[in-house]
Amino acid sequence: MKKLLLLAAVAALIQFAPAPPKTNPQSDPARTFAAVMKPPAAVQNIFHRACFDCHSNETIWPWYASVAPVSWPVRKHVEDGRKHINFSEWLKPGETNFTAWSDLEDICKAVREKTMPLPYYDWLHPQAKLSAADRQTVCQWVDTAIAHQGK
Ligand code: HEC
Repeated sequence: MKKLLLLAAVAALIQFAPAPPKTNPQSDPARTFAAVMKPPAAVQNIFHRACFDCHSNETIWPWYASVAPVSWPVRKHVEDGRKHINFSEWLKPGETNFTAWSDLEDICKAVREKTMPLPYYDWLHPQAKLSAADRQTVCQWVDTAIAHQGK
């Protein structure tokens, strides 16, 4: 019984530990991936359902993002994901043109090699699972975009 009480006390206390913030910062609609790249709907839909929770400012925070200790890795993944690729802040501050073509190559590679979305995410969000056709859609679009506008 004592052990159980201790456990409950610890579980309650860790809720106050510092964690990355659970926020969705404002973004400029003119600087999003959709506005800048004008991708076909199929491509936008794939990113929207499989990537946006960690790589945009439109994260749909699940309830467990509010319960430590599960919340810690979840929030950290959003924080780190946004740092690498942010579909809501596709143009970086001060940029007027998109120039980060290597980000597009990384996106195709991550999708093709199945390193993204992170495996636990697929498992919790079945709608994020990508089919072989989805992977191909992404990489074909990346190739075309680079061939037509990049480099
Ligand atoms: C559950 C959160 C999550 C989801 C969902 C997710 N990512 Fe990521 N992504 C991350 C994190 C965290 C990192 C940073 C990894 C690191 O620092 O090693 C990252 C890094 C990346 C990178 C840069 C590093 C690399 O591997 O080249 C790319 C590109 C990327 N993600 C693409 C995607 C794409 C495309 C999707 C959707 C198909 C996606 N991610 C879905 C969390 C996520």
